[in-house]
Amino acid sequence: MTKVDINKQLEDMQKVAKLNENKNPKYSILTMGCQLNENDSEKLCGMMEKMNYKKTENLSEANLIVFNTCCVRENAEDKLLGKLGEVKKYKEEKDTIIAIGGCMMQENHIVEKIKQSYPYVDIIFGTHTLHQFPTDLYKILCNRKRIEDVLDIDGEIIEGLPITRNDKIKASVTIMNGCNNFCSYCIVPYVRGRERSRKPKDILQEINILAKQGYKEITLLGQNVNSYLKTERENNIEFEQYNGVNSFASLLRAINKIDGIERIRFVSPHPKDFTDDVIEAIKDCSKVCKLVHLPLQAGNTNILKMMNRKYTKEQYLNLVEKMKLQIPNLTLSTDIIVGFPGETEKDFEDTLDVVKKVDFEQVYMFIYSRRKGTPGDKMENQIPEEIKHKRFNKLKELVEGQIAIKNKKYVGTIQKVLIEGRSKNNNNMLSGRTDSNKVVILEGRNELIGKMVDLKIVSEHMWYLKGEII
Ligand code: 5AD
Ligand code: SF4
Repeated sequence: MTKVDINKQLEDMQKVAKLNENKNPKYSILTMGCQLNENDSEKLCGMMEKMNYKKTENLSEANLIVFNTCCVRENAEDKLLGKLGEVKKYKEEKDTIIAIGGCMMQENHIVEKIKQSYPYVDIIFGTHTLHQFPTDLYKILCNRKRIEDVLDIDGEIIEGLPITRNDKIKASVTIMNGCNNFCSYCIVPYVRGRERSRKPKDILQEINILAKQGYKEITLLGQNVNSYLKTERENNIEFEQYNGVNSFASLLRAINKIDGIERIRFVSPHPKDFTDDVIEAIKDCSKVCKLVHLPLQAGNTNILKMMNRKYTKEQYLNLVEKMKLQIPNLTLSTDIIVGFPGETEKDFEDTLDVVKKVDFEQVYMFIYSRRKGTPGDKMENQIPEEIKHKRFNKLKELVEGQIAIKNKKYVGTIQKVLIEGRSKNNNNMLSGRTDSNKVVILEGRNELIGKMVDLKIVSEHMWYLKGEII
């Protein structure tokens, strides 16, 4: 594959910017799905702003509407189709340009459906062609013909795109794209391609710049962050080393040394790749938060095998035990899917058992959703919706009970809280997070925003704690 010429993209950005001069055009963007998509949207915003578009939340006043889509579960798809119906009127009224990108556009059957049922969509772009958005837009502005710009082959990692970040304290940094694991329920490997790691130098430079800009917290993103550079190491593919970084563990250590950065988080690791060097790095690095997100998916070994997760219930529990022993103050969060094909009531009890034993800080719960093209979709023993919902509710009840007990234990403790801004629900209060990612609200002045403060927790509520400065 030829190397992407970033200069071409920058040139096209300038061309569009020129067309937009003195016109004051506006854009709206709707992002669905995970933090990786959020980070891609920040790049899209960066590009649109370079092209002289200004952001608006009001779809009716936008000249350009971009959807960055997700296809990991069916409800994300339904959401897009609903919104597409809604924007038709803007297209008719003021010829708004409609663009759809992201994971859903890597699925042929969806692209076909959009072409047939939503002919007013102007640009369709995929996950591998995000950087070409300025070129696609330039073509549309010059010649109103629908553009389909989706690549099936893995796109290379593009550096040097502009970015407009959503926040001033916390920033996400994508360290790798794609996934090699093919869990049998999951569509991601088909729409995001194989694992490609960014160069250590590019990542560290980006974080150094963020630190200079005043960012305090970095979240490293990837479908499987702890296999960072694994493909390269296993296949003896040469890569440029920088500051001794050749693995996820050494990357954590290098970021830990960057002045100004106070917290490092990462999502998501895979339990099968959670090697000892990563555990040691978490323990040794003072800035790495001791909340680890460790996706379980299911607690029963047979279901895990059907899911192609490559670990057993016991291996997962042993890993948790080892981590709890080695990392003081460790807390854990997880993802769980209920109702995978073939899951019996007894299998589901194993999930509840693991949840009881591990005592997670937070559990992200999902109802299994059939994804076209995945092995799970072809399995015969699909679980009826009502059983899935029953199990979901049972799990939710267990988790909420555990969280309520844990919340009580916070009261009276002193927590280090990074103050992020004004509380979204109560403008009189500030809001921040503990190391374990719990929301804490407090009374205080704006000067505290961006500061790490010691707070005494004075009361607890289901989804947040209340603190006072000591
Ligand atoms: N159905 C339900 N949940 C899913 N996830 C991934 N694919 C599916 C699916 N088909 C969940 C997994 C993953 C999280 C991001 O989404 O728990 O960790
Ligand atoms: Fe999907 Fe599994 Fe890859 Fe995560 S590790 S993106 S769940 S295939």
